[in-house]
Amino acid sequence: MKHDELAHLLPAAREQAQLGNEERVKSLLRDRWIDYPRATEALQVLQRLYETPPRDRMPCLLLHGDSNIGKTKITAKFRRAHPNEFDERRGVERCPVVTVQMPPTPDQHRFYSGLLFELGAPHNAAAGLASLERLARDILKTMSPQMLIVDEVHHLLAGTYREQRASLNLLKYLANDLKISMVLVGTRDAVLALQTDPQMVSRYRPFEIPRWRESDNLRRLLAAFEKVLPLRKPSDLSRREIVQYVLELSGGLTGAISTILNDAAELSIRNGDEFIGISHLERVAREHA
Ligand SMILES: Nc1ncnc2c1ncn2[C@@H]1O[C@H](COP(=O)(O)OP(=O)(O)OP(=O)(O)O)[C@@H](O)[C@H]1O
Ligand SMILES: [Mg+2]
Repeated sequence: MKHDELAHLLPAAREQAQLGNEERVKSLLRDRWIDYPRATEALQVLQRLYETPPRDRMPCLLLHGDSNIGKTKITAKFRRAHPNEFDERRGVERCPVVTVQMPPTPDQHRFYSGLLFELGAPHNAAAGLASLERLARDILKTMSPQMLIVDEVHHLLAGTYREQRASLNLLKYLANDLKISMVLVGTRDAVLALQTDPQMVSRYRPFEIPRWRESDNLRRLLAAFEKVLPLRKPSDLSRREIVQYVLELSGGLTGAISTILNDAAELSIRNGDEFIGISHLERVAREHA
């Protein structure tokens, strides 16, 4: 197939579009990053926090939005942009951005254990909370991260009042003691959890990744998907009919948009159509119903 017939695709996708059906279907499942303005803004806010020099009251961020909107995707991209580096002078690995998840129930032992795992620090899982805590803090001091990202913060609410207080104190302590910027990530329940603590409210700047609505940005998002899906014919995904239908099916969630388009692309590769039209989307909708 001549490349100029694939002018609707980005160069890398043009290569992929030449592959066989199975390979193309498989490639749909690969991780991909698609830029959109709110994500770019979020990445810029994270970068500004990251560059804040250590001070007594470190600024912190609460990145929130519905499940499947793309929050973890953003923090993972930020993390990749700041890989670990070896500090020759001190002979230690520096980990500029540490990401860790809040356990499903606010359990400090599991939190520290998960943190130590992220830091690549071997530890005895049977150790008591106090010793895990000390170890994690010592290692964090050595590795001197500039930012700690805690994902799934809404899990905090799954605990009793006392457990919630304890977890909030833990987060406060880490920000104060280590003088690192904290980024908490979660759903609306994460916002509610922080609201129970006036000190947290004043410290954390909320930043929402909202659901998509019909807009130029959504049209651009769909156009960007079209440029990377390995289909051999243009689909014109940014036309009104398609945009409205995808919005309706997805509820405006980035993850759902991605899944719907992947499924429609797979269908269209398998039946030889090689583009996505309303009929493909309708079939995907029926199969998911
Ligand atoms: N920028 C993006 N480019 C491409 N795909 C994306 C992007 N953002 C989100 N997605 C798609 O949406 C899915 C869900 O994203 P993500 O896991 O980041 O959501 P989340 O907001 O962290 O959800 P949860 O609150 O349930 O953890 C991803 O697996 C990916 O398929
Ligand atoms: Mg997530």
